[in-house]
Amino acid sequence: MGIQSKERNNFMSPHNWQTFFDNYAPRYMDEVFVKATLAEVDFLIQNLHLAPGMRILDVGCGTGRHAVEFARRGYRVTGVDISGGMLAEARKLSTGAGVNVEWVRSPAQDFVASSPFDAAYSVCEGALSLLGLEDTFDRDIQVFARIYAALKPGAPALFTVLNGMRVIRSYSDTDIRSGSFDPFNMVENGRTEIDTPAGKQNIPTRERAYVPTELRLMLRQVGFQVDVIPGGTAGNWRLDPPFLDEMEIMVIARKPGGS
Ligand SMILES: C[S@@+](CC[C@H](N)C(=O)[O-])C[C@H]1O[C@@H](n2cnc3c(N)ncnc32)[C@H](O)[C@@H]1O
Repeated sequence: MGIQSKERNNFMSPHNWQTFFDNYAPRYMDEVFVKATLAEVDFLIQNLHLAPGMRILDVGCGTGRHAVEFARRGYRVTGVDISGGMLAEARKLSTGAGVNVEWVRSPAQDFVASSPFDAAYSVCEGALSLLGLEDTFDRDIQVFARIYAALKPGAPALFTVLNGMRVIRSYSDTDIRSGSFDPFNMVENGRTEIDTPAGKQNIPTRERAYVPTELRLMLRQVGFQVDVIPGGTAGNWRLDPPFLDEMEIMVIARKPGGS
């Protein structure tokens, strides 16, 4: 997704993506990138070889734009998200569409499935890449490990994360010295202004980016077999290699085993 409006800045105050997305929720479905939702669901079905009736896990589901479309097409879907505001919008969407989706409010890094899934996805920085100030460098390994544990043997997964190659090319040595880019953790430190009932708030953001090699190693570390790391920017999902300066990269992986 990439928070385009944020200013680069140095800060040391508590971070809160939950506050950010609770605030963003009522406007989220007005974004231009949501127009690609149906094509993205088609892409997931085609490239993960999905069929109606399968149990699908959507991590960082947000307003449920993909989850509800999967449910419309006959899939059994669980959507997990940390933001009550985003889940409230998701519930409206599923009720309006007349479909059932299981909505779970939980941090992705703590999610434990009650029974295994046939496939999972986490897209458009659905938890992945969005670090809280309290989160450590390897928080997203925990997210991948939770998703891995939730899958049946042989089940596929698709993730999109922020592209570290773009991040490296866009920052300068001055940004490193000011703290707005932290290469030790590959984190962009920013701030963004939000409107709340209590007035405007300027909240800190930490966004973790990945280079493809690191992503492969992380996923291998939790047990996944990595099939391909193509370009994955919203509106331009494809199987070709990523562009150096695009916003997001994608990874398609699989839990080994199964028939
Ligand atoms: C940019 S939105 C993407 C939503 C959805 N995947 C989409 O494609 O529209 C990111 C979502 O991730 C959620 N999120 C952020 N950090 C999370 C975490 N640690 N655990 C679960 N959800 C998280 C946010 O609340 C938000 O709904």
